[in-house]
Amino acid sequence: MNYNRDQAWKVLLQHVKSEVLLKHCLAVEIAMRAYAAKFGEEVEYWGAVGLLHDVDFEKYPDDHPNHAREILTAAGYDSQFATDVEAHARDWQQERTRLQGTLLAVDELTGFIIACALVRPDKSLDNLEVKSVMKKFKDKAFARAVNRETISTSAEALQVDLKEHIEFVTQALAAAVKMPQYQELPLVG
Ligand SMILES: [Fe+2]
Repeated sequence: MNYNRDQAWKVLLQHVKSEVLLKHCLAVEIAMRAYAAKFGEEVEYWGAVGLLHDVDFEKYPDDHPNHAREILTAAGYDSQFATDVEAHARDWQQERTRLQGTLLAVDELTGFIIACALVRPDKSLDNLEVKSVMKKFKDKAFARAVNRETISTSAEALQVDLKEHIEFVTQALAAAVKMPQYQELPLVG
């Protein structure tokens, strides 16, 4: 099976048209690739899981991610890959692997970090400080749709300190937005 980025992106584009959702998938991909490198895991595989984790969301918003398997299987992905995507369901009953736990831990956090960057005067991730993100994290009125508890408990399950987690993902996003593959659909702006 080929888990490369071009293939995953092609599959995603067949199923997702919303730019907002595509940007979210790209942000999650970036965080997954960064954590894979940090953990010494397979970067392409983790990145593809991140990129495709919401592949069924646009068509089945009320029954997501229960249709991911059929879409991914039809696209040639194997059963383990589909399971890794399915495991970010909030009510997933089994113990999550490190990859699956990471996916959950970065899913909502990436959007939160980008929301923090967007309210900065320079609308940039470059000078976004972790302490400012932490402050907004505690401010329930800011980006209220983001579930803080999912972020906190998933970071805990991954045995990463919340502050370090936020810092790591912020840096990963800030570095990636300068890469050519993220220019077409800018994450911030
Ligand atoms: Fe997501």
